[in-house]
Amino acid sequence: MFGRTKTKAWRNLESLQHKYNINMRELFAKDDKRAERYTIQLENMLVDYSKNLINDQILDGLLALAKERGLADKIKEMYSGAKINQTENRAVLHIALRNKENKPIYVDGHDVMPKIATTLEKIKDFSEAVRLGTFTGYTGKKLTNIVNIGIGGSDLGPFMATQALKPYWAKDINCYFISNIDGTSCAEVLNHIDPETTLFIVASKTFTTIETLTNAHTCRKWLVDALGEHAVAKHFVALSTNKAEVEKFGINPDNMFEFWDFVGGRYSMWSAIGLIIAIAVGYKNFERMLEGAYAMDKHFYEADFAHNIPVILALIGIWYINFHDVHRYAVVPYDQYLQYLPSYLQQLDMESNGKSISLDNKYVDYSTAPVVFGGAGTNVQHSFFQLLHQGTDIVPVDFIIPAISHNEIGAHQEILIANVLAQAEALMNGKTEEEAVAEMEKCGNSKAEIARMKKNKSFTGNRPSNMIIVRKLDPYSLGMLVAMYEHRTFVQGVIWNINSFDQFGVELGKKLALNILPELQGTAVQVEHDSSTASLIRYIKGIRK
Ligand code: F6P
Repeated sequence: MFGRTKTKAWRNLESLQHKYNINMRELFAKDDKRAERYTIQLENMLVDYSKNLINDQILDGLLALAKERGLADKIKEMYSGAKINQTENRAVLHIALRNKENKPIYVDGHDVMPKIATTLEKIKDFSEAVRLGTFTGYTGKKLTNIVNIGIGGSDLGPFMATQALKPYWAKDINCYFISNIDGTSCAEVLNHIDPETTLFIVASKTFTTIETLTNAHTCRKWLVDALGEHAVAKHFVALSTNKAEVEKFGINPDNMFEFWDFVGGRYSMWSAIGLIIAIAVGYKNFERMLEGAYAMDKHFYEADFAHNIPVILALIGIWYINFHDVHRYAVVPYDQYLQYLPSYLQQLDMESNGKSISLDNKYVDYSTAPVVFGGAGTNVQHSFFQLLHQGTDIVPVDFIIPAISHNEIGAHQEILIANVLAQAEALMNGKTEEEAVAEMEKCGNSKAEIARMKKNKSFTGNRPSNMIIVRKLDPYSLGMLVAMYEHRTFVQGVIWNINSFDQFGVELGKKLALNILPELQGTAVQVEHDSSTASLIRYIKGIRK
């Protein structure tokens, strides 16, 4: 069994944490090769991880931990189709969805590649037909409003990716996303579209998720009220692993794009779940996204761990979480098109690794996934960055920026780049009290004013960040970026000896909601609740009478 006190590499890292009081500013001053040594470049992506609380000994220690945890074998297991999602007895093969060399991958003795190719072909044909207007709505009009109805992995990936690739959208196509059970989510979309030109994509791996099915039924009724029952076949398609439920809903299985239980919900935007991406940006661009992910998959599989982007990023994350007690992690893309990446990563990281039971079926005695948050820079510089710079807690940050913008207007991009670099530099360097005093003296501040303000104007610095630069945010680099985070998540799961691919934690609340619903609707006698829940139900029912 794996426990923090039981392993050599873990204990070594604890002693390294005590031994080295890393001061990045000093280390940079002493070593002008630090940035060069701690940078990895893969094609058009550069990852500079030099502004972290690490040195060579610590990196070696982290790499030894990866070795001790059998990471190399675990990666091979995943890529070979082994059932590493052991609680659900499933293989984990999002890598097969972008396996561009088309090498066979076997699950239960069957190569999964042919069926993946068939679905991709179907996505290609259908997305092209919609874009060309050869597949039309019931009344013959071109389908220009594409509405994805899904939640969690059936929403966040396609939503994030379509927004990230907005410059590639066909000019006459608009994408909408209905996810929340809150009626507002439906109403706000339906109020703005025309049924004759609308295609609904019902995206649900299980096809049993209450939010998605409720929203899909509402949209179906809206469409049938406007165009009649016969219109459904021309305006509804389903993306699912569950043919029986799709048929039960009333969608013809011919209009179903299949995927399989070896594709986890939060790892599914490369599968049929990506249909809306293909319609919006065109199949060629969708394929470029898969190619970018494949490049990262290959790198992850082949590069030695010391030069392996997802492995290094994962290990640095482990260093903070498990050896510095830092349980927060911010992702800040400096690109408006990537503004939804942090929400996507919240599910990827927190649903995958927010676990406390090990693969040996024991409670772990160490921390797992941190709280992930973020937002687009520079906006968030004016919201939560104060805490990053001067708060009491360290928050490691991933900065992401494309060197070239899709909208090179005046000096905007240079100002944006200057900001992201300045933030990372400021977090690392900080400003000593002496420096703050010197600055204030230069500005002619009085001695009393300087004494009053010098602490407020100084920064501890030594706050870690990674800088991830892509040439331009295109489908290929987006694919690389997302696959990089998927593998980073996997590596951390391996280190923590947990199953990153199940999500039993979301079940309990869902079940209790089903108990409360009939009470709210007055169709069931009151179930036993704690006094708080019981009185809240009474209070809300009182208002809604
Ligand atoms: O939130 C739990 C969850 O099961 C996620 O893992 C999943 O992405 C989401 O619900 C949606 O599930 P489905 O695609 O089956 O509707």
